[in-house]
Amino acid sequence: MYLKLSVIAALATFATAAPSTTTTAAGAPAAPSSSPSVPASLIPLPAFSGTLVGVYPPQDKTAPTDTPLVKQWLQELNLTAIPTWPVVPFTAAGDPQNPTAIPAASCDWTETNCINKDLTTCPLGVWGLTYDDGPTEFSGKLYDFLDTTDQKATLFYIGSNVIQNPALARRACGAGHHIAVHTWSHNPSTSLTNEQFVAEVKYTEMAIKELCGFTPTYFRPPYGDIDDRIRSLLWAMGYTSTGHMTLEHELYQNTVDAAIANLPKVQATWKTMPVSACMNDAHPYKEKNITLATMDGAKTGVTNNSTTSSTAAASASSTASAGSSTASGSVSHSTTGSGAVVNVAVSSVAVLAVAAVTLGQMMLL
Ligand SMILES: *[C@@H]1O[C@H](CO)[C@@H](O)[C@H](O)[C@H]1NC(C)=O
Ligand SMILES: *[C@@H]1O[C@H](CO)[C@@H](O)[C@H](O)[C@H]1NC(C)=O
Ligand SMILES: *[C@@H]1O[C@H](CO)[C@@H](O)[C@H](O)[C@H]1NC(C)=O
Ligand SMILES: *[C@@H]1O[C@H](CO)[C@@H](O)[C@H](O)[C@H]1NC(C)=O
Ligand SMILES: [Zn+2]
Repeated sequence: MYLKLSVIAALATFATAAPSTTTTAAGAPAAPSSSPSVPASLIPLPAFSGTLVGVYPPQDKTAPTDTPLVKQWLQELNLTAIPTWPVVPFTAAGDPQNPTAIPAASCDWTETNCINKDLTTCPLGVWGLTYDDGPTEFSGKLYDFLDTTDQKATLFYIGSNVIQNPALARRACGAGHHIAVHTWSHNPSTSLTNEQFVAEVKYTEMAIKELCGFTPTYFRPPYGDIDDRIRSLLWAMGYTSTGHMTLEHELYQNTVDAAIANLPKVQATWKTMPVSACMNDAHPYKEKNITLATMDGAKTGVTNNSTTSSTAAASASSTASAGSSTASGSVSHSTTGSGAVVNVAVSSVAVLAVAAVTLGQMMLL
């Protein structure tokens, strides 16, 4: 059902938009980078002076909740509709201080590996290629390498790192990588209050929007830490959460080097693609005129709606509803082929085991 809708929507978008569509490089600003071989942008980026215009919180610290912006973001949400599961205090070593106090009904991942509508597996034979914690000073090397094989990935960005490395963020956005949110300061999500968590997601979203012109809709929790309180906040903000699909990092030189060394081995046996692509979600940003490539053949680009606004809007909304039906339950393809929730969890672990063996290292950051 979803696949069919998605194909129809994608075809409709391109058929109606073809005469006035700018899908590629022509006229697009070149992605800034130190590398001379960076391909032209597939996604046109907003102008950027080199200095961020937005006012952002201190880097690597829990985002504040008392700024006018955060107050405005909170007003847009109905917090009384969020489950009242308790905030979980964590030790300095990164574990819940009192695991037995975590209610089973909160569907906490850290203690019980409980999942609830989290995307955890790609279809059989497909490797959801994801990198967490960027962009960092080492990311340019990773992006160069991905460019050499025209490989796209889902990049779960830390807001603090985005504002520290704006040129690298813009390069990845323009290249058509799937950009997603990984909080502002990388604390365990369940250790944050509702207000802190909203601030962490929205400031990261704001930085990506300022630099790249689009608004992400996918989120991965640091350390995998999530429960139904956090999920409900994400859903209220228009996000889908992704679990430990496959996990690599662009945080350090050695993880980037390992990723570069191992990716060809993964590519030899798996089809590698961003999570949005393996879910056939051609529109993983709030701006539905942006299309990212999918397994089903959607091509990366931007639909210029200036002459086709009614048809573009119609196809965008049918795709959006198809996308949400996927997010709410069809993570049924798995390496074991079972659609049952419990088997999805098991197969996810199996995928991780394969990932760990294949890559020779796993860091649960
Ligand atoms: C907020 O959510 C509560 C609980 O679901 C509901 O009763 C209330 O009507 C909602 N308020 C608004 C303004 O939507
Ligand atoms: C969209 O199309 C209009 C009319 O053809 C053109 O003037 C405008 O520059 C285009 N915008 C982009 C971003 O391609
Ligand atoms: C894409 O849609 C956004 C609104 O979602 C709009 O601001 C932007 O101008 C559109 N871009 C083009 C090229 O039509
Ligand atoms: C079409 O583009 C205009 C500005 O270029 C924007 O305001 C509008 O929201 C866009 N509509 C859609 C459906 O993307
Ligand atoms: Zn992380």
